[in-house]
Amino acid sequence: PAPLRIGLAGLGTVGIGVVKIVQRHADLIAARAGRPVVITAVSARDPQKNRDADLSDYPWETDPVALARRDDIDVFVEVMGGHEGPARLATEAAIAAGKDVVTANKALLAHHGNALAMAAEAQGRVIRFEAAVAGGIPVIKTLTEGLAGNQITRVMGVMNGTCNYILTRMQASGLPYETVFEEARQLGYLEADPNLDVGGIDAGHKLSLLAAIAFGTKVSFDKVELEGIGNVSIDDIMLADDMGYHIKLLGVAQMTGRGLEQRMTPCLVPAESPLGQLQGGTNMVVLEGDSVGQIVMRGAGAGEGPTASAVMADVIDIARGTRLSTFGRPAASLATPVAAKSATP
Ligand code: NDP
Ligand code: HSE
Repeated sequence: PAPLRIGLAGLGTVGIGVVKIVQRHADLIAARAGRPVVITAVSARDPQKNRDADLSDYPWETDPVALARRDDIDVFVEVMGGHEGPARLATEAAIAAGKDVVTANKALLAHHGNALAMAAEAQGRVIRFEAAVAGGIPVIKTLTEGLAGNQITRVMGVMNGTCNYILTRMQASGLPYETVFEEARQLGYLEADPNLDVGGIDAGHKLSLLAAIAFGTKVSFDKVELEGIGNVSIDDIMLADDMGYHIKLLGVAQMTGRGLEQRMTPCLVPAESPLGQLQGGTNMVVLEGDSVGQIVMRGAGAGEGPTASAVMADVIDIARGTRLSTFGRPAASLATPVAAKSATP
């Protein structure tokens, strides 16, 4: 059978992880997909940069838009980042050129997911984004496929590993926010714009994508109640600890009688609960459905291997011929949600 041909835009943490999986597991992937999956061409900014993979077989495109339009690719894999500029332009170009898209870019979809999904479906193309939410945890497949027979009643969780690292480290060490924030920077945990992490924005992007799938609504990042962790003091953490609680940056999305509630805020959670026990850079997502009850998923929310694992799951799905709508149902059928303020701010 004909191979599925990838155009890979971005050769950073996630992109190199994708290259490694394609190279290491070529036979396994071909067996599971029913056809080989190959990288046809790649793009990044600096062709001279030393990268931790053998890229010598892959033609280089300096412009990701040119990569997206190449006749010899079937799937455009966007792992560059950013919600404007090249990521947006190249994704739009890929769809217009009749390519399927796999992306890890939650910011892009939180800002432009509705329009991109409409454009893709108009072209008979799919956009898949398992890696964009909770890294290696297959939460999107669980919602769209595993729980397809359920009315989802609530989605919640810890979806930013950097914030969870900072909060758990403050708790364990007694060190103040500023010191631990600096440690996180030294460890390379923070995004280039740290406010995306500590301002709760990155986690809010992820929550807005899960809410769209769970409740059949348009992606409404602008309606997420957001509060980051910058105002959480060591005194808050120690006081919570005395009362048997830990502070977590917790996202909750639920459909209430007043409308769709989406909030991403620091919350007290019982210290001994699974969420309270969540350590370091780990993520946890809790899904609740009317028939299934509660499902708890925990795992690595970031990093080369876990994130590339999720990208490849989407690529293999496309190679198999799965044609799932972006948000699990046709984009044109997604409702505009009424935003409900949370009852417990
Ligand atoms: P990196 O910063 O490590 O890599 C970004 C890559 O994109 C680099 O190779 C860079 O090129 C390339 N790039 C950036 N701008 C351009 C451009 N204008 N033209 C061509 N190439 C460009 O990012 P990550 O791999 O960490 O993240 C990629 C995406 O995955 C982001 O959307 C991120 O939010 C998402 N994500 C990341 C996770 C992680 O753990 N890192 C987890 C989940 C999602 P060059 O190398 O030459 O500079
Ligand atoms: N900055 C993000 C985090 C990366 O800390 O969780 C994964 O999306």
